[in-house]
Amino acid sequence: MSENKKKRILSGIQPSGVPHIGNFFGMMRQALELQEKGDAYLFIADLHSLTVNPKPQELRERIDRLALDFLACGLDPEKTAFFRQSDINGICELTWILNCITNMGLLERAHSYKDKIAKGFVPNNGLFSYPVLMASDILIYKADSVPVGKDQKQHLEITRDLAIRFNQMYGDIFVIPEPIIPETVAVVPGIDGQKMSKSYNNTIELFGNEKQIRKKIMSIPTDSTPMEDPKDPDKCNIYKLYCLFADEIQKEELAAKYRGGNFGYGHAKQALFEAYMDFFAPMRKRREELEKDPGYIQSILKKGAEKANAIAAETLEEVRKAVGLR
Ligand code: ADP
Ligand code: TRP
Repeated sequence: MSENKKKRILSGIQPSGVPHIGNFFGMMRQALELQEKGDAYLFIADLHSLTVNPKPQELRERIDRLALDFLACGLDPEKTAFFRQSDINGICELTWILNCITNMGLLERAHSYKDKIAKGFVPNNGLFSYPVLMASDILIYKADSVPVGKDQKQHLEITRDLAIRFNQMYGDIFVIPEPIIPETVAVVPGIDGQKMSKSYNNTIELFGNEKQIRKKIMSIPTDSTPMEDPKDPDKCNIYKLYCLFADEIQKEELAAKYRGGNFGYGHAKQALFEAYMDFFAPMRKRREELEKDPGYIQSILKKGAEKANAIAAETLEEVRKAVGLR
């Protein structure tokens, strides 16, 4: 690759639920920063989400919602090719070809698969070969860098293993991708203090209805320290959540109020609610505009898929030839 060629950066996100602020600060924001750093590709991993057999109508709604939410948050379709995984021809064909060079043991050792089994999940073959589909996603575009959360580290190692093995068997076709894993991925706490997760029913939605968001924030459990007494901000979940939206000065100001006494948890909740609304105000506004024009969103996904399909088709042609098909 020549020195000044932009790196190809790619990531994917499963449409697995209603986005919450944990998803925003833990993943979506990083994905949006990518578009400033290279030749960016971002896709909705709808094929991957079939491994848990979602209801068809629910899946359709989640895909559309994820696309809308990402665009509202600032995804720039001029900078990032944004598309649905299932719109790319050849992903499933490449998955099959890679399946045929994948040792069972490699997949049997996958943590995500073992965790699901340990939780009593009855596994299907899709879940088992999930990492091979993910390898196809990455290798078909010859991506240089793949930003992911820590939980995806092993999947990236499997992708690299498969790329190296394929290249050894059939010639140098695939780029060996580098993972980009943020060192300090902040875990956003839920309203109950555990990790925010849709499976724990403790989320604050990213684009929730104002009334419901207020209700959620007001329902955050607190201890029984009286209003007048000083409080320790670092032990308070409301303060931790507030910090997501605040700059250093605002954080210090609120911490001083906690320590000064005569500042109740009700006041802190009000401050959190206002900070949430202020922070997301421009994105909410944009979302309202975008929501009026579903055709526009579909056209962006279509354009993104066209760009991605052109690259995928070239790679697939090389692969087919290399393995002896046609
Ligand atoms: P959930 O736990 O709600 O099911 P997912 O597993 O679908 O969320 O996560 C999607 C992305 O959001 C992942 O990259 C994950 O690392 C990130 N994420 C989810 N919850 C949090 C959280 N509480 N704090 C930080 N990042 C999170
Ligand atoms: N497995 C990823 C997750 O659950 C989503 C994903 C699918 C992905 N294909 C990918 C991420 C390719 C990066 C690159 O978060």
